[in-house]
Amino acid sequence: MTKIAIIGSGYVGTTTAAVFASKGHSVICIDRDKPKVDAINNGECTIFEPGLKELISSSVSKGSLRASLNIAEAKDSEVFLICVGTPMKADGSADLDYIEGAAKDIGSALKDRSKYFVVATRSTVPPGTARNIVLPAVEKASGKKAGQDFGVCMVPEFLREGHAVQDFTNADRVVIGELDSKSGDMLNEVYSCIKGPKLRCGLPEAEMIKYMANSYLAKDISFANEMANLCKSEGIDYWTVKKGAQLDSRISPRSFLVAGLGFGGSCFPKDVRAIRALAKKNNLNTFVLDATLKADAEQPLKLIEQVAKDFELKNKKIGVLGLAFNPDTDDIRESKSLILIEELIKRKAKVLAYDPKAIENFRKESNLNAELASSGQELIDKSDIILIATAWKEFKDLSYKDKPVYEGRKLFDSANPPKNYKGGICW
Ligand code: UGA
Repeated sequence: MTKIAIIGSGYVGTTTAAVFASKGHSVICIDRDKPKVDAINNGECTIFEPGLKELISSSVSKGSLRASLNIAEAKDSEVFLICVGTPMKADGSADLDYIEGAAKDIGSALKDRSKYFVVATRSTVPPGTARNIVLPAVEKASGKKAGQDFGVCMVPEFLREGHAVQDFTNADRVVIGELDSKSGDMLNEVYSCIKGPKLRCGLPEAEMIKYMANSYLAKDISFANEMANLCKSEGIDYWTVKKGAQLDSRISPRSFLVAGLGFGGSCFPKDVRAIRALAKKNNLNTFVLDATLKADAEQPLKLIEQVAKDFELKNKKIGVLGLAFNPDTDDIRESKSLILIEELIKRKAKVLAYDPKAIENFRKESNLNAELASSGQELIDKSDIILIATAWKEFKDLSYKDKPVYEGRKLFDSANPPKNYKGGICW
């Protein structure tokens, strides 16, 4: 059992905390946001992620998980995991202020400590961050020496929102970037409760692995959409083509070739831009990354074009089913639903929207002028045309009657579509 402090209680921090606490570690979450801290201490959670609330609630009652606003309460911890946000700056690069702030806070809290500890970053950060930002910030604030008094690691996360608990518990791999083997041994011990192969490497290699993986996956999505757009134009069934291509042992059946509106969420759009900004700083061209982003920006508009070919959009009531960027999450960051709504409003349509979990976040975070329905069925009943923007499974069971239905995300079985099914964005 290791005493772990997790700085930042977003999707990554909370999932990491809850899983480690459930595996027997003693975990404290540190966050500036009182409602988040109070929720965890009450065995609850301010975000929706399947299985997360249950893990938090059982770990809090067992006493292996608690939260605090005050980092001083974490000063006995042996491992500090930094899970704060790295928002995008105007030039596309990653803003590392929260990372540096967290490292300083850890250093200040541990000034008087004599026992060795490790500071590990779990947020997605550009290569060089652990060594050039985290390490000196902890050294300066604590007066201690890295490699002697404390260790430094980079342990990137590979969690998909909507599957975060499952992805963490049954990891494809755990990457441990380490300043030295003593730092890495400690993280290796912490992660021994997690299934999956472990790769130990240098700090910048671990940082770059995360960017390469996310850029690779994002590129696959833009590529899938390009192929699927062509298939649709030629009257070819993309899903059969995808299946056949994925039978090639060199193309994984799990590869990100599900065509649709493109990639949303807090990671792919931001990470591809950040790694591109780093390449530009090195005076390197980024042909593949540029094309990935350009294709992705154009993709959602194709669905609107498709509807506009069949109907005059002005004054039509368009029902947008789904606001979250992925099913099984309440996160609307960079959701393609927002692009669809914005474009529909521009074209003077009236928008009615619904999501099983993301309505509150839409109310708080978006200023788009969409009416909100209280159920999927109400949305269908009150709309002239329906767009599927998030593939929530429960949308399959609604009664679409004879309303025209367009899919931006693949939801229906090809053999069993709604009565007035008008097709998918690229199928
Ligand atoms: C992504 C990665 O999949 C995780 O491995 C990574 O850890 C995470 O980013 C991160 O950096 O934190 P996430 O963004 O939560 O996870 O969700 P995904 O399931 O990857 O979906 C991202 C977007 O791509 C969604 O809008 C989804 O609809 C879209 N997508 C995904 C496709 O259009 N096609 C696909 O085949 C897969």
